[in-house]
Amino acid sequence: MKQILLLGGTGWLGQTLSRQVLDRGHAVTALARGTKPFAPGVSAVIADRQAPDAYGQVAGRAWDLVIELTDRPRFAREAVRFLGTAARNWVLVSSCSAYALQSEPGADETAAILEPLPESEDGVSADFGRAKAACELVTIQSRQGKALVVRPGLIGGPGDPSGRSSYWPLRFADPREPVLVPWAPEGQAHVQVIDVRDLAAFIMEAGIAGEHGPINAVGRVHELGEALDLAQRAAQRVDLSRAAPVREATCVRYGVEHMGLDGVNPWAGPKSLPLVLPEGSGYAGFARRSGARATAAGLHRRSLGETFEDIVRHAGGSGTGMLPSGLSAAEETAVLGAVRKRGGASG
Ligand SMILES: NC(=O)c1ccc[n+]([C@@H]2O[C@H](COP(=O)([O-])OP(=O)(O)OC[C@H]3O[C@@H](n4cnc5c(N)ncnc54)[C@H](OP(=O)(O)O)[C@@H]3O)[C@@H](O)[C@H]2O)c1
Repeated sequence: MKQILLLGGTGWLGQTLSRQVLDRGHAVTALARGTKPFAPGVSAVIADRQAPDAYGQVAGRAWDLVIELTDRPRFAREAVRFLGTAARNWVLVSSCSAYALQSEPGADETAAILEPLPESEDGVSADFGRAKAACELVTIQSRQGKALVVRPGLIGGPGDPSGRSSYWPLRFADPREPVLVPWAPEGQAHVQVIDVRDLAAFIMEAGIAGEHGPINAVGRVHELGEALDLAQRAAQRVDLSRAAPVREATCVRYGVEHMGLDGVNPWAGPKSLPLVLPEGSGYAGFARRSGARATAAGLHRRSLGETFEDIVRHAGGSGTGMLPSGLSAAEETAVLGAVRKRGGASG
């Protein structure tokens, strides 16, 4: 049985990790303020990492593995300083947002990362990519290279708090028709989602095995249209014991070049078409990163169709209304009206 410390553990990935580590028979201690619940069975350490003695309750123990989930460079720096020498293995969960460029399809871990956020801007700047770059730097330096830096791409799956991976399967599971479906010419829009459960398993296994260095944890690459087809098929396949099964929805094709004009946002958040990347070549490589190193190191990636099916099952018939990303019914109707005015299916 390994002794594993999560710095975090109350977020979506942290809870998923906790459950998986416990399922494999290891012991989990998780340190967080507890703004959300810890997973059952976790040894919870309530601490605020802003406080001077934040690590007092977990220092002085020989952890087999520490998994760091922060995006605050100061927290990453202090954690490796207080706990780094006694920990056998260390994983920092970083992000593909730490890369300097998102424009090169197929880029691997040798690609340059952003200028790390300086210490003076820690906690002030909202620059997530540069903050993760700074977390990487302090971790690798303090651990003298003996740390695994996992860079996830978009994380998806059942319970996705961002709603980005859930919107499309849940929209197709909703009998409301027609469905507004974004369209881009082949080869110009891609989707790459890593299932949170596959990511958690990889972090745990590669961390315990003592893998080190940077590693992209990304899903399989799909064309946007292919990903939307998978979402629709997943909605049809899952039996939620409704009176009538979900049938092939009537779809209205919507050229993504109209989004700006119609006030529809790309990617995420309110009034958005989730998973659709912003226009321009700056994002040509964003959803097309190489995952070769991770798959060679044991990352198992379930199919996107399976992820979508589990999202529908987990939501249990609730629609897209409560998701933080996507179009509301009224917004979708308004955009459908604009499409009709322009003369039918656009794109
Ligand atoms: N979502 C994506 O698509 C995506 C993509 C790439 C990378 N990532 C990375 O993947 C990881 C996701 O982690 P997650 O889902 O578990 O959620 P998270 O919300 O990022 O986790 C942050 C954890 O830190 C704890 N925390 C925050 N402030 C704290 C403080 N002052 N003192 C002590 N603990 C504190 C939080 O718990 P309390 O609030 O209870 O303190 C929480 O458990 C993150 O590293 C994220 O940056 C995400």
